[in-house]
Amino acid sequence: MFSLKGSGICQYLGTFYILLLLCGVVPASNLSTRALELMSKYPLIDGHNDLALRLRIMFNNKLDQFNFYNYSKTATNINKLKAGHVGGQIFAAYVMCTAQEMDAVRLTLEQIDVIRRICTEYTDLELATTAKEMRNTKKIACLISIEGGHAIDSSLPALRMFYLLGVRSMSLTHNCNTPWAESSSDIYSYYKKRNINGLTDFGKAVVDEMNRLGMLIDLSHTSWGTARAVLQRSKAPVIFSHSSSYTICNHSRNVPDDLLVMLKKNGGLIMVNFHSGFIACEGIANISTVANHLDYLKQIAGYEHLGIGGDYDGANGFPQGLEDVSKYPALIGELLWRGWNETELASVLRLNFLRVFENVEKVRDELSDTRPSEVQIPFIEANNSCRMELKPPVIPKTGNVYSVSGGFPLLFMSALCWTIVPFQCLLLYC
Ligand SMILES: *[C@@H]1O[C@H](CO)[C@@H](O)[C@H](O)[C@H]1NC(C)=O
Ligand SMILES: *[C@@H]1O[C@H](CO)[C@@H](O)[C@H](O)[C@H]1NC(C)=O
Ligand SMILES: *[C@@H]1O[C@H](CO)[C@@H](O)[C@H](O)[C@H]1NC(C)=O
Ligand SMILES: *[C@@H]1O[C@H](CO)[C@@H](O)[C@H](O)[C@H]1NC(C)=O
Ligand SMILES: *[C@@H]1O[C@H](CO)[C@@H](O)[C@H](O)[C@H]1NC(C)=O
Ligand SMILES: *[C@@H]1O[C@H](CO)[C@@H](O)[C@H](O)[C@H]1NC(C)=O
Ligand SMILES: [Zn+2]
Repeated sequence: MFSLKGSGICQYLGTFYILLLLCGVVPASNLSTRALELMSKYPLIDGHNDLALRLRIMFNNKLDQFNFYNYSKTATNINKLKAGHVGGQIFAAYVMCTAQEMDAVRLTLEQIDVIRRICTEYTDLELATTAKEMRNTKKIACLISIEGGHAIDSSLPALRMFYLLGVRSMSLTHNCNTPWAESSSDIYSYYKKRNINGLTDFGKAVVDEMNRLGMLIDLSHTSWGTARAVLQRSKAPVIFSHSSSYTICNHSRNVPDDLLVMLKKNGGLIMVNFHSGFIACEGIANISTVANHLDYLKQIAGYEHLGIGGDYDGANGFPQGLEDVSKYPALIGELLWRGWNETELASVLRLNFLRVFENVEKVRDELSDTRPSEVQIPFIEANNSCRMELKPPVIPKTGNVYSVSGGFPLLFMSALCWTIVPFQCLLLYC
């Protein structure tokens, strides 16, 4: 009798336990084990990390005082990346908008240099430039991206040279407009007066050239108008490397549903940003808040178009439980608890990104007969005090250049040379 009664209670309690587990009342320690197993099989490829910005701010890019294994003042270090089961990281070469019309190109080169150093001097990392390398490496793959189109100073040759340095992704703007694309933010005054309706002709040429080169076009930080124009123009899938859902939190950095529908059609990817200010418009942000974005984005865009772009070291303020790059498994545990299955999670963790990158490479291969674009931005659209206009140099009437000894011959030679080989004359006056 007793044992029969006992088994009845056990059955009852067992069912009740499962109900509690399904309702999330019982801490499901097994979910974290499953999350870690899943991530060992499918290590995360994360869309956006600003470690290089921290290296600029904290060390002015001097690495001799920096131990990347265990440095504790950044959210990103090698030990944390390993604990977080990160198998690939897109590192941003970002320079402030205030460098636009100044030394943005040099600063971008320096950020690329510091990422390349980190990714080649530490043997746990591997600099990747192809989807295949990212898929196959057993190390932490690094991919270099440029954050903010002001980095190319409205020059397609500059874009091509960045590609040669290993850059495989670029966001068209940061928080400032460029002469050819619009930002989601209007805190800077650059090129504000121009209503370019998303993309200028030169902006379209940038998109075309990125398609031709096989560079991922990143729409995080662009205005919705620019994002729409790019989605209509691009032959290859695009990404939002670190943006979340506007319906869940109405911040202008997030993506509204109509763009998500276009993104799905484009075959691209939205990689969810964790920054508290973008995911929780009110209240505190925690793991559930991020999972709410993913649940919603899955409904609208489908799991094949989702990824993760934590934005670590790029912002202050991350959700409780997701403070640094070691914490990704906690989010995967939460999603398992919400019923996401292995196929969906493997896709979000890395397979979607690899598919998009491969498709970008495929478009590049299809365009292999297309010659490098020679489109140049009309001077008047990018005119600023640091941009040299190609015209005969003006010789100052006084000063060293026009001295009795050297001035006249120089002026004469300049005039002569301008007549024969116009642009070469500019070299005289650098
Ligand atoms: C966790 O799941 C495994 C099977 O995957 C099982 O053997 C184990 O008993 C479970 N542990 C807990 C604490 O539920
Ligand atoms: C990092 O590790 C080095 C040696 O491996 C050690 O000397 C140093 O104290 C550690 N730093 C931190 C912040 O743990
Ligand atoms: C965002 O939503 C809040 C309420 O949830 C509202 O007060 C605010 O005006 C909205 N902002 C925008 C830009 O729509
Ligand atoms: C997250 O915060 C909400 C309240 O904002 C709370 O209901 C929920 O339990 C929290 N979730 C986690 C996983 O901490
Ligand atoms: C996982 O979910 C997707 C839909 O989101 C479904 O197509 C697939 O069959 C599921 N896989 C398993 C193993 O349940
Ligand atoms: C460029 O801007 C400068 C200063 O605003 C102006 O003097 C010059 O005429 C402009 N040049 C062109 C070609 O627009
Ligand atoms: Zn950003």
